[in-house]
Amino acid sequence: MVIDLSGRVAIVTGAGAGIGREIALTLAREGVRTVAFDLSQPALDELGRVFAAEGFDGLQVRCDVSDSASVAAAVEQVVGTFGRIDIVVNNAGVFSAGSVETLPEEKWDLNFAVNTKGTFLVSQAVIPVMKKQKSGRIINAASFAAIIPSCNTAAYAASKGAVVSLTRVMAGELGPFGITVNCYAPGMVPTGMNNFDKLDDAEQNRLLDLLSIRRWQTAEDVAHLICFLASDQASYITGTLVDVSGGKLATQIPAKAYEGLS
Ligand SMILES: NC(=O)c1ccc[n+]([C@@H]2O[C@H](COP(=O)([O-])OP(=O)(O)OC[C@H]3O[C@@H](n4cnc5c(N)ncnc54)[C@H](O)[C@@H]3O)[C@@H](O)[C@H]2O)c1
Repeated sequence: MVIDLSGRVAIVTGAGAGIGREIALTLAREGVRTVAFDLSQPALDELGRVFAAEGFDGLQVRCDVSDSASVAAAVEQVVGTFGRIDIVVNNAGVFSAGSVETLPEEKWDLNFAVNTKGTFLVSQAVIPVMKKQKSGRIINAASFAAIIPSCNTAAYAASKGAVVSLTRVMAGELGPFGITVNCYAPGMVPTGMNNFDKLDDAEQNRLLDLLSIRRWQTAEDVAHLICFLASDQASYITGTLVDVSGGKLATQIPAKAYEGLS
């Protein structure tokens, strides 16, 4: 099976850093004309230099996914430049820690504004374009937190749970137009969002013990799934949440399988 995405046009939100940056670079390497949306202009400029050096086709567009005017202008720029949008990866996200009892209201609002409303607004802006094409792929970043949430992640976990429901609603609404909508649940990719790899050894081991594939996840692990979900081969998959977490809590005590191994 050969996945061929060459010539397609993709938008990756939150592509200035972390997983989104790797998704954008992976798609570009596959010949996809890739548009990076991000809040951070310096991050976009840096990515632009990599695109130029590698000879990748694409754009870097400053866009706040939580702001409908910003999203409308950014999507218009993509359509004006490339005339179509085949793939949208709603990756932009924020994380705020805090228990329900103590979480500041602004943090609740921020997590829903970026993670949930951002996914809604970008999808809403691209749907007319994809409907006209009678094809499209919308792929949304949920999280393992949407499968099993942790304590003190009230806003984040709830906002990602909402992304799963939004994904299923969109899958239903857009099926007749050849548009598939899926979401995915990364487990633990060390990025600026979590700094997992900078925790002390005992804490890193405690977290790694939750995994069947006992290593930190890489952004490439996620990017490869995105390539598949974006491909023709995935045309019969819609409305799903794909767990790409290395078997996090697939069994009650995954670390048991590693006992006694060198
Ligand atoms: N890293 C993980 O282990 C993990 C696990 C589960 C889910 N996720 C999800 O994957 C996605 C990427 O996570 P990451 O770890 O790469 O995060 P990150 O913090 O490294 O990168 C997030 C990017 O989104 C951008 N961004 C933030 N707010 C934005 C806005 N309003 N508009 C546009 N861009 C905005 C940031 O500037 C940044 O470039 C997020 O949705 C996150 O919730 C990550």
